[in-house]
Amino acid sequence: AILTQDELKKIAAYKAVEFVESGMVLGLGTGSTAKFAVDRIGELLRQGKLKNIVGIPTSKKTQNQAISLGIPLSDLDSHPVLDLAIDGADEVDPYLNLVKGRGGSLLREKMVEGACRKFVVIVDETKLVKHLGGSGLAMPVEIIPFCWKFTANRLQRLFEDSGCVAKLRTCFENGDPILTDNSNYVVDLYFKKDIGDLKAASDAILRLAGVVEHGMFIDMATTVIVAGEMGITVKNK
Ligand code: A5P
Repeated sequence: AILTQDELKKIAAYKAVEFVESGMVLGLGTGSTAKFAVDRIGELLRQGKLKNIVGIPTSKKTQNQAISLGIPLSDLDSHPVLDLAIDGADEVDPYLNLVKGRGGSLLREKMVEGACRKFVVIVDETKLVKHLGGSGLAMPVEIIPFCWKFTANRLQRLFEDSGCVAKLRTCFENGDPILTDNSNYVVDLYFKKDIGDLKAASDAILRLAGVVEHGMFIDMATTVIVAGEMGITVKNK
């Protein structure tokens, strides 16, 4: 039988939730894959198979989902160290570096997932790439709204050699800029060529004054669970 992408996402999500134990402080990811994991955690709590979980959501959307499931929530101020986070990704390279944030939640995700002892990433096999930015899809950067064109142009010029095009993320219906949970804008970077050294690219982006954060998650994932037609693969750092 051929599985749909949603079925693969769910398989990866359920596998990741097997790592969850009672009493854990858990980072709750955002996006269509993470949603399956959060649903599953809610279900296990309801069945009494998990107890005393504290969830730290990575977006307002996940916060609302968790509240509707009755998952007790807290924040990084009260829980600066988390046991485990589970989240999806847009791209995963062979070294388990990620691109995240096509859903726009990259900043809170990076804060929460950077505070975890274990960070388990769940993807279907379509997310695997050789080089980050190489799928022809967006690499998101959260920027402040003030003079966003200035910042977008500087980002584009940083990666001129890689044929970078920077586009403000806008609402499909009315063309208005999309606001993140932190009331910022998102600029999506599209590359024609490999962006080269990721750490150097990251440093260069973060040095720009209008930039808040970018969607490259370098050396953060400890485990990646990949669900494909041939089964589940668990990759460890
Ligand atoms: C949200 O901002 C993202 O980082 C998501 O985790 C990522 O975009 C993956 O989303 P899907 O699971 O919906 O593909």
